Amino acid sequence: MELEAELAKIGVIAGDGVGPEVVREGLAILDDVSGRDGLRLELIEFDLGGERYLKSGEVLPESVIEDLRRCDAIYLGAVGHPEVAPGVLEKGILLRIRFDFRQYINLRPVRLFPGVETPIKGKGPDQIDLVVVRENNEDLYVGAGGFTYKGTPDEVAIQTSINTRAGVERCLRYAFELARSRAKARAFAGLSDVDRDKGYVGQVTMVAKTNVLTFAHDLWMRTFTAVSLEYPEIKADYNHVDACCMRLIIAPERYDVIATTNMFGDIITDLGAVLQGGMGLAASGNLNPERTAPSMFEPVHGSAPDIAGQGVANPIAAILSLGMMLDHLDAPRGAEAVRSAVARVLAAGTSRTPDLGGTSGTAEVGRAVRRALEDVST
Ligand code: NAI
Ligand code: MG
Repeated sequence: MELEAELAKIGVIAGDGVGPEVVREGLAILDDVSGRDGLRLELIEFDLGGERYLKSGEVLPESVIEDLRRCDAIYLGAVGHPEVAPGVLEKGILLRIRFDFRQYINLRPVRLFPGVETPIKGKGPDQIDLVVVRENNEDLYVGAGGFTYKGTPDEVAIQTSINTRAGVERCLRYAFELARSRAKARAFAGLSDVDRDKGYVGQVTMVAKTNVLTFAHDLWMRTFTAVSLEYPEIKADYNHVDACCMRLIIAPERYDVIATTNMFGDIITDLGAVLQGGMGLAASGNLNPERTAPSMFEPVHGSAPDIAGQGVANPIAAILSLGMMLDHLDAPRGAEAVRSAVARVLAAGTSRTPDLGGTSGTAEVGRAVRRALEDVST
């Protein structure tokens, strides 16, 4: 049966540094796989990032925000330029889009693909498969704060963590729903439940610091307890963030879904990226689950100025982010094909960028994934 072709508008922000290098590979793959779910795509490129800012002083003009709002999804490389003060582009572009488009979930899977080495001794793909649900619209990232007596010995700097009941609750509910759907997928694949003895099919670990942040994280804990009652088959687990950093190293298999604050989620997912083989492999999605505005998909890594322009950046994080975008666009066949093709390339080990110990360039790895796609039928 012919599938009715649906038109999806994809806003593309290649951005700075290695951003354009890895996005190019992602888009070549998108072209290959979009047809598998009958998806027709219109790509709209947005020239945003350090170069534009240095030339024109513009970070993200109002008219561009409105153009982006009309997209079905946004695919972003990275922003961050060595000649631009820290925060200008990250706050002005990334955070602006995440907040304006109510992308309140930052979803960061941490999965070790077979064939990829993790620096954690004795751990393999069976032990490293978790997802971090990072709250993405609140906490210290709201930018609430200020200075008094700036630049003097009397200076005071304040940066406030904002936590709302509604914001925390929607994040935690998303995490429990995700644990439920992961449990279903495990059952479908014939894999065992997270804690079968106690009757739990999955687990959400809330990661916070309730012993010190006794206001903000008290709200998180009370909300967690309340939401968890709606999911009796999912184990409600809690770790302080420092203990979580330790356990991610010594026992990553203890995690299924982690739900955490914006700041802690940023930090522990760099650790997560290392568990899964490095920044070159870590993908993410900034989701507006209600779809009232576009969601945005991007590698976890930044613009990597130290390797930009050399054609050696690993494109796989960007390619896997594209897979997450296809999931979001209800194109599950394409999404699965992308993941399978990446898995094949990583298992074969013949095309690898230097971060994974190989000698291939960005374009060569992109080509290898496209070749692998030819063998993946969905
Ligand atoms: P980074 O993620 O750009 O680089 C950290 C290290 O990982 C570097 O050694 C880099 O070479 C390596 N790396 C990153 N991506 C790689 C890839 N695809 N393949 C192989 N190696 C890779 O983080 P850094 O250096 O802290 O920040 C650089 C700039 O990027 C800054 O301006 C920062 O603000 C910005 N940034 C932007 C993000 C975004 O756009 N979402 C996220 C993180 C940082
Ligand atoms: Mg980060």
